[in-house]
Amino acid sequence: MVEVEQFIDEAIAEIDEQVGDADAIIALSGGVDSSVAAALAYEALGDQLTPVYVDTGLMRKGETEQVEETFSYMEGLRIVDAHERFLDELSGVTDPEEKRAIVGERFIREFEREAREADAEYLVQGTIYPDRIESEGGIKSHHNVGGLPEVVDFSGIVEPVRELYKDEVREVARALDLDALVAERMPFPGPGLAVRVLGEVTEEKLQVAREATHIVEEELEEYDPWQALAAVIGKATGVKGDNRVHGWVVSVRAVESRDGMTARAQELDWATLQRLQSRITGSLENVSRVVYDVTHKPPATIEYE
Ligand code: XMP
Repeated sequence: MVEVEQFIDEAIAEIDEQVGDADAIIALSGGVDSSVAAALAYEALGDQLTPVYVDTGLMRKGETEQVEETFSYMEGLRIVDAHERFLDELSGVTDPEEKRAIVGERFIREFEREAREADAEYLVQGTIYPDRIESEGGIKSHHNVGGLPEVVDFSGIVEPVRELYKDEVREVARALDLDALVAERMPFPGPGLAVRVLGEVTEEKLQVAREATHIVEEELEEYDPWQALAAVIGKATGVKGDNRVHGWVVSVRAVESRDGMTARAQELDWATLQRLQSRITGSLENVSRVVYDVTHKPPATIEYE
């Protein structure tokens, strides 16, 4: 990226030129990419832009409230509670790519409806450079790229941060004075916690992944990982109080990376690891075991599905 201020001016001018007097809609996810895209688009379009946040029920702890607060300055912000529709459609589905496809499809349906209501001709997206590379390379279907133009009748797709890497997006976020909670927020996948619970998506597994991810993000803040998460990877026997329990196994993952395309598992000290397991097993009675993932990418991916 040449220079942040210049990038911002050019991006705003480009959005303005592309959209003209039409109306546009943007999908806010709570992450830095869509937040930056939204802030740039709002600068360019003002009340021609309808920002929409879909609460899928697959979000991190407090994410919906945070989005509501951060973007309350934008006129017309829409918060859609769709968690029942997402969970209904995911019910009984265990295949990772099928889960991604269902979440992606459901998103499209939610947006179609919102776009129609907003009379939006343009869709603004926070697609960044690595999203395109991984999707084009067929490594994994990213739900926020591909598919939309054919299904939804938009005149055009606007992707103001399409050439940027994650660290560059953060630079722009800081320059735009976006809340540090957003600017420094760890990456989070579009399909959300659905890809952090192996197999079927249930409320119980989601709740474990959500709480455990929150604990991991808090405890590892001092390490400043590129991304840290907790996933529910199966069940195992444990002992709690006087009882044997068949509880969930939570895998903790923390990685260093520049763009998520490759990553190194982060070295954590024993005291930190023990604090993590003690907080997670202590606060979640249905968790019997915590493991730490030491695998780099490759051969593993960062997420579990
Ligand atoms: P993986 O698991 O492929 O993840 O090593 C690389 C980075 O991408 C994020 N990720 C996604 N982001 N839609 C997204 O917007 C997706 O479907 C998706 N899958 C993975 C992941 O969190 C990591 O930062």
